[in-house]
Amino acid sequence: MAATFATFKRLKDKGLAALQQGDYVGARPYLIQAAECMIEIAEENKDAKQREEQGAYARELMDLAKDCDRRAARGGGGARRDRAREDDENQSKAEDWIVREKPTIHFDDIAGLDEVKDEIRLKMLYPFQHPELAQRYGISVGGGVLLYGPPGTGKTMFAKAIACELDATMFVISPAQIMSKWVGEAEQNVRKLFDAAKAESKSVIFMDEVEALVPRRRDQQSTVMQRVVPQILQEIEGFDRQADRALLFLGATNEPWGLDPAMLRPGRLDAKIYVPLPDATARFKLFELYLGKRPLADDVNLAQLAEKTAGYSGADIKALAERAASRPFLESVAGSEPRSISMADLTAVIAELPPSVSSKDVEKFERWAGET
Ligand SMILES: Nc1ncnc2c1ncn2[C@@H]1O[C@H](COP(=O)(O)OP(=O)(O)OP(=O)(O)O)[C@@H](O)[C@H]1O
Ligand SMILES: [Mg+2]
Repeated sequence: MAATFATFKRLKDKGLAALQQGDYVGARPYLIQAAECMIEIAEENKDAKQREEQGAYARELMDLAKDCDRRAARGGGGARRDRAREDDENQSKAEDWIVREKPTIHFDDIAGLDEVKDEIRLKMLYPFQHPELAQRYGISVGGGVLLYGPPGTGKTMFAKAIACELDATMFVISPAQIMSKWVGEAEQNVRKLFDAAKAESKSVIFMDEVEALVPRRRDQQSTVMQRVVPQILQEIEGFDRQADRALLFLGATNEPWGLDPAMLRPGRLDAKIYVPLPDATARFKLFELYLGKRPLADDVNLAQLAEKTAGYSGADIKALAERAASRPFLESVAGSEPRSISMADLTAVIAELPPSVSSKDVEKFERWAGET
């Protein structure tokens, strides 16, 4: 469960991207987390010189984060603000922080993954939809669920579809938000969020990148997580699992091995659902979904495309379709007679775009699935 370069890179990229856009408040938590991650990587590095370099890099990221603080404060009017006013701002921000959504994605919009759908129906939909039966057979209701699998396989889509199928309100929360500027306010904000969710008759709380919810050591930020993580776990354990009130906590991750083991104990994220890469049938449906509404030449063979794209994720196939469509589009913009998308366009883009998930990564997921 060591920090990985992949996590580090993701956090760093997000931080730098926010920084580039002048979003100092948004950049800061990512930069701090990236620095923490780099420190962990450095600690495990046996090569002294590399360790030194990695440490220096972590310090640079921390400096950038501090700089974000200064710039954000300057952006807020320059003068040091008094505590009362800051509290006021935190209050209003806490309300902004609670993002409510009413998603409109249905299970039918998700290609393939029939086993995942069945598992979700059994664990999350039917108990709420048939409360008397659930009670009669002692089927447990609600609670915490972990969706895990490679990137781009539809985990976020599933979270939305679950909320939609239950006709529940979805609350979206991220560890980065918790880490961000409510040091000292985080607990209140978490409580507000769960209270708001409990006030609805049906709600789904969705936390993406849930593996970032790890109580880390060192520095002020870490103590935030040290307090907030147990609080969240306690909230999940405390969901009164009554069939007439849908209350679900959904966590999603593509690094399940990075999760704090405490999160997986019974009563917490105890239902674990693997969202794998699409099989050939699902890939066929994905091509149908993403090419279906575009002009296609007669030679386009979806079954063949499905066969050629073993290892591609749903998001990859969506990207292939878009890229294939851009070829005749660009030609027609340049003055050619508009033509349909041909099989040659599709084979060319398949050759250009390799799958984003390696078979090694897939093995890693399968191993983790087998062990837990
Ligand atoms: N099974 C699927 N059916 C339809 N579209 C899909 C499917 N899987 C992926 N997609 C497409 O890929 C996009 C990315 O999917 P999504 O965001 O749900 O992936 P994810 O598993 O949450 O990825 P990440 O781990 O990177 O967050 C979706 O918006 C959708 O367009
Ligand atoms: Mg996602």
